Amino acid sequence: MCGIFGYVGVRERDVALMTYRALRDLEYRGYDSWGIAAMTPDGVFVRKSVGKISDTNEQELKGISGKLAIGHSRWATHGGVSEVNSHPHFNRDRTIAVIHNGIVENHNELRAFLYAKLGLVHADLFVSETDTEVIPHLIDYFLRLGNTFESAFVETGKMLEGRYAVVVMKRGEPYLLAMRDGSPLVVGEGEDQYYLASDVPAFLDHTRTVCYPGDREYLKVSAEGIMMRSLDDGAKVEPKWSEILWDKASATKEGHPHYMLKEILEQPLSLDKAIRQEDGKLLEAAALMKEAEHCFFIGCGTAAKMAKLGELYAASVGGRQTTAFVGSEFKPYEQFLDRKSVLFAVSQSGETADVLEALSVGKKRGAKIVSLLNVVGSSMDRMSDKKLFINTGPEIAVASTKAATAQAAVLILLAHALAKDGKAKLAEGKHLLRRAVKEIKAWLTPDLSYEIRRVAERLKDTNDLYIIGRGLNAPIAHEAAIKIQEVSYIHAEGFPGGELKHGPIALIQKGTPVIALIANDETRRDMESNTMELKSRGAYIIGIAPTHSPLFDEWIPVPDLGIASTIANLIPIQLLAYHLAVLRGNDPDKPRNLAKSVTVK
Ligand code: G6P
Repeated sequence: MCGIFGYVGVRERDVALMTYRALRDLEYRGYDSWGIAAMTPDGVFVRKSVGKISDTNEQELKGISGKLAIGHSRWATHGGVSEVNSHPHFNRDRTIAVIHNGIVENHNELRAFLYAKLGLVHADLFVSETDTEVIPHLIDYFLRLGNTFESAFVETGKMLEGRYAVVVMKRGEPYLLAMRDGSPLVVGEGEDQYYLASDVPAFLDHTRTVCYPGDREYLKVSAEGIMMRSLDDGAKVEPKWSEILWDKASATKEGHPHYMLKEILEQPLSLDKAIRQEDGKLLEAAALMKEAEHCFFIGCGTAAKMAKLGELYAASVGGRQTTAFVGSEFKPYEQFLDRKSVLFAVSQSGETADVLEALSVGKKRGAKIVSLLNVVGSSMDRMSDKKLFINTGPEIAVASTKAATAQAAVLILLAHALAKDGKAKLAEGKHLLRRAVKEIKAWLTPDLSYEIRRVAERLKDTNDLYIIGRGLNAPIAHEAAIKIQEVSYIHAEGFPGGELKHGPIALIQKGTPVIALIANDETRRDMESNTMELKSRGAYIIGIAPTHSPLFDEWIPVPDLGIASTIANLIPIQLLAYHLAVLRGNDPDKPRNLAKSVTVK
């Protein structure tokens, strides 16, 4: 949610243009409005606008020279989508500019504090409806009490509750101040220049040397260097620099019309990277889970569906009982967390607020935290006792595709490691997945995409679409529904095949499209019966299966990968969702109302 960017350098540069380009690379995080503030020799340049930044011609931002700039791409939480609510936000004399990602949860109390201290009413102080705007007014208040810019910033930081990453610029000061707690912030180090951003692609054209500040740490960043301290006690923190190994190409479309299509088609490669896990790490994570009395998988959105798949694999392959939860629904179970529990987070970004909240509670109660992540240096990475990475490179499209299949693949490996003779079983799992990746590579060609586009053409005007699956394919049916909803905006619902007769079958009429995920496993017969029941009521059946059946009106053949068939089944659904989106005139990369990383509850 929201992308933030800051720049400070020793030489004058075309800073508004640079910030514009950085925000364009962060647009996947939030895209309902944007804003830039740059310090120029003639004063502060400000430009705000509603809509996607990529809809603005970059030429409009050219020629603004300066050494400092900040920018923000917004996904509205507090206050509607409007220019006035877009960031940066300012104090009354507009000398302090603030950008913020996250939520100031106590913004009402902070407003009341300011009214009481300043003897003012709302309209005298606030111009926007945002929670963020309390920050510049608080800094201003502490400055007027005689604090330096830095100490006013720290005093303000101490009052904020919630999750945030904040960057602040002040007229006349040659540095930026930033702080974070819970929301992502990464620093890039160039030659005589530094960059701050929510995510690395924002500055990858300029540097690969990065450092990730920790929770409740603040930074003073000038062209000469950075100083990092704890927000709570002011203790100095040594920045730990590392190099980004992936290149910008993996964060660009590489000739594809959309990131979503590029990310779907690169799955043979991303899966190949994902399954190259170190045995030791998988076995260590599995050992923690084996020792635990309770083990909970936890995730949100697509990652929640993969967490459920993790639970099923742990039971069917690993012989372990675990429970999968949606992050936002975990609260009643927090009471059961103790030193004998393991919380296993599944998250692409490592920043999803509801998962982070459960992990923080778990940590306080002594539970062990294990994570399966994509983003190195993310909040979940830092708070985990053991971590596994899917290593797929950046996923830019809002709808998760290559991260989801990679999560499924690593969860299959983990389940093997959980089994009795974990080491030997893991070798078996790796063999199975290597074969699966090979088969997926041969099958996932542009022809498959064309074929699915043809199916999408038939379905593009439907109002409803249902998906059924059983066993391992039940969470895949749920994930299919999310994928179709997210980008095509068609009403889609996924059900376990066995649940059909308990309600959903009443929705079936002549021509209602239903996708049946039929694997060559013990669920096959029952799935065929369910499909027959649908067919007899007039449903138009799209079969995703390794073998043809006369029940199918459309057949999308998938390779038979045994227990890894779930991975193959996800791919045609992703392609179908993508083509439906394009055929219906939607932008699949930036679906309405959604954001890539949900850093607020
Ligand atoms: C958002 C994204 C989804 C993602 C979910 C969880 O809803 O649009 O694609 O599955 O967040 O994100 P995470 O980063 O934790 O996997």
